[in-house]
Amino acid sequence: MQSFQLHKGVSTVSDKSYTREDWQGGYESLKQEFDYWIDDLEGEIPQELHGTLFRNGPGLLDVNGQRIHHPFDGDGMISRITFSNGRAHFRNRFVRTAAYLEEQKAGKILYRGVFGTQKPGGLLANAFDFKLKNIANTNVIYWGGKLLALWEAADPYRLDPYTLETLGKEHFNGVLSEGEAFGAHPRFDPSSAQDSGAPSLVNFSTKPGLSTTITIFELNTEGKVVRQHAHNVPGFAFIHDFAITPNYCIFFQNPVAFNPIPFVIGMRGAGECIKFQPHQPTRIVIISRNPKQKGVQIIETHSGFVFHHTNAFEVGDEVVIDSICYESLPEVEPESDFREVDFDALKPGQMWRFHLNLKQNTVSRELLESRCCEFPTIHPQKVGRPYRYLYTGAAHAETGNAPLQAFVKIDLESGKRQIWSAAPRGFASEPVFVPRPNSESEDDGWVLALVYDSEYHRSDVVILDAKDFNKGPIARLHLKHHVPYGLHGNFTSECFL
Ligand code: CO
Repeated sequence: MQSFQLHKGVSTVSDKSYTREDWQGGYESLKQEFDYWIDDLEGEIPQELHGTLFRNGPGLLDVNGQRIHHPFDGDGMISRITFSNGRAHFRNRFVRTAAYLEEQKAGKILYRGVFGTQKPGGLLANAFDFKLKNIANTNVIYWGGKLLALWEAADPYRLDPYTLETLGKEHFNGVLSEGEAFGAHPRFDPSSAQDSGAPSLVNFSTKPGLSTTITIFELNTEGKVVRQHAHNVPGFAFIHDFAITPNYCIFFQNPVAFNPIPFVIGMRGAGECIKFQPHQPTRIVIISRNPKQKGVQIIETHSGFVFHHTNAFEVGDEVVIDSICYESLPEVEPESDFREVDFDALKPGQMWRFHLNLKQNTVSRELLESRCCEFPTIHPQKVGRPYRYLYTGAAHAETGNAPLQAFVKIDLESGKRQIWSAAPRGFASEPVFVPRPNSESEDDGWVLALVYDSEYHRSDVVILDAKDFNKGPIARLHLKHHVPYGLHGNFTSECFL
């Protein structure tokens, strides 16, 4: 089976746009919790930018000096940036999960992490311990009047949007049971036909095994689960993200195999037991959003690994889906230190477009962006619809693999790119597009993101004019501290001050 091929050769340029030491600074724990108005800034915050950017990500990369093995194992910390009347306010708080409180009290690691964090004491201390630590660190959403911290292998934690205080677990009126998974990548349908055109939140969960159950959840604007339906697909599946169209949910079942033995005997985390299978195809799983449609359609394509999708939409019998593809899944080795990663030894994630013909069960694909990229975002009203603009974190250099230091805007119609880079000393994260109120064109708005500035060991909130990246940020707000590299977040036009 052919794999996703690189469009261009690996960079041979020796002078990099970054140093590893600078990059590592963004992986220090932030233990303190802050609450302040941001007064140190360059440029001006647009008066019309009104609302709240919530971010989630690992805030702790160690427990009382005991290092965790991988950032994905770090306790979730919510950052909240509120924009109001040309000013901005920052607040951060840890999600006080049961395990976070226990470990902070004990002053040591008490739980094995999915991505290889082990309890002190070697194999004997870790073998046959299958307790899962819900770290609530992957995404944060505000929906149906509730602020929820999400981690895909367990239930959401609900927080007070004003104080960021942890209120407890959210089970949607008994829809979820204790500890039941609820994905960390919900999609927000701006206009759901099954809800008379009202917005809906579409999410999923997986129960992997010899075959995998995928459950779809749809929530109305009151936060109530109005549709729930489960489907089986053959084989083990490790699915982090999905995409929606008005009629379908689309999943990429990456070619991986799971051998639990090293986990059982205490050698590896469960996530480290997932092995990429380069000779197996990726299976694209298409499930109808209508609960009455029971069938699942599967279309096979080239081997590869996908974490994130940009968007999907329907054109006649075709579903088009844009996704960031890797040639393989980088494996976390038990003996390795993620801080010492050799970026040049890995292949970059690149954006591909897949055309799925549902009638003929065929797929064709084309490369959209060869530059190393991750964390794509689009206009919220274009989710599931044909769209023109996407924004993504990207490497500074055009070729090769490197940490994210830039943001790229891609015009899918003209093929034009715009880039703003924080290199050499700045490091990028997931951008979020916020439309200007009453805007008419798709790129009329702002792109917001946290950028780690290694020169001052602090993070900036960067505001880019989505119409024009080339002119540089319209505002750069300097926080008093750094925010460790995060994962996902969302913007809501509501303020909670
Ligand atoms: Co993700």
